[in-house]
Amino acid sequence: MNVLDAIKKRHSVRAYLDKEVPEKVVKEIIEIAKQSPSGVNSQPWKVYALMGKAKDNLVKDACKKFDAGETESGEYVVYPSKENMPDWYKARRAACGFGLYGTLGIERDDMPRRIAQARKNYQFFGAPVGIFITVNKVLGPNGWGHVGHYIQSLCLAAVGKGLGTCLQEAWAGYPNLLRKHLNYGDDEVLWCGISLGYEDVNEVVNTFVPDREEFDVFAKILK
Ligand SMILES: Cc1cc2nc3c(=O)[nH]c(=O)nc-3n(C[C@H](O)[C@H](O)[C@H](O)COP(=O)(O)O)c2cc1C
Repeated sequence: MNVLDAIKKRHSVRAYLDKEVPEKVVKEIIEIAKQSPSGVNSQPWKVYALMGKAKDNLVKDACKKFDAGETESGEYVVYPSKENMPDWYKARRAACGFGLYGTLGIERDDMPRRIAQARKNYQFFGAPVGIFITVNKVLGPNGWGHVGHYIQSLCLAAVGKGLGTCLQEAWAGYPNLLRKHLNYGDDEVLWCGISLGYEDVNEVVNTFVPDREEFDVFAKILK
């Protein structure tokens, strides 16, 4: 697949077919993505892929916590505080939320359905594979950019293999639980989870792709 087509085709997939992804393909995607650039070739990412029982056990524990309303203090700030949110951020965040819930026909005050949709994060939206990405702490904010390259490469590699993904910082809310299941190192911060599987193209949720800003809003060509 042409790389430009892969970039355009990638979108967040929030409903999957009940179809296994061969382990060989999962490994291949993780391997291909390592060609991502990183400063001094530091490769400050670590990748944990969960399939089968390992994934099912995590889903069970996470849903139990979610249903009990249990929270953990996160290892990093996922969203700016409301007072610190600039207007452009508020507007895009609202459009994204309204767009997703609107596509699903969920009203603003329909809390049970909103909660049910949020809960699907902890089931990897029905995907057969859950991947987690950590960033090595030693690099600070700069390292997150390098790991971001890896994440996008992984998503594009998945598209190339006919698979869909959804990045999920929702998982950043359960670092203790994930430390237990993944046993990641003390020098790592868990950034996000990634659902990986075959897209269910008949599910309406997968038709939602939020708009992007026009060129002039975010870019300039200076001559
Ligand atoms: C780091 C990161 C974390 C995200 N976390 C979540 C999440 O927890 N749940 C979710 O449904 N979508 C999540 N998303 C998906 C974004 O909402 C989505 O990428 C954005 O709205 C653009 O839509 P698109 O991916 O379909 O192009 C995340 C995206 C990124 C990059």
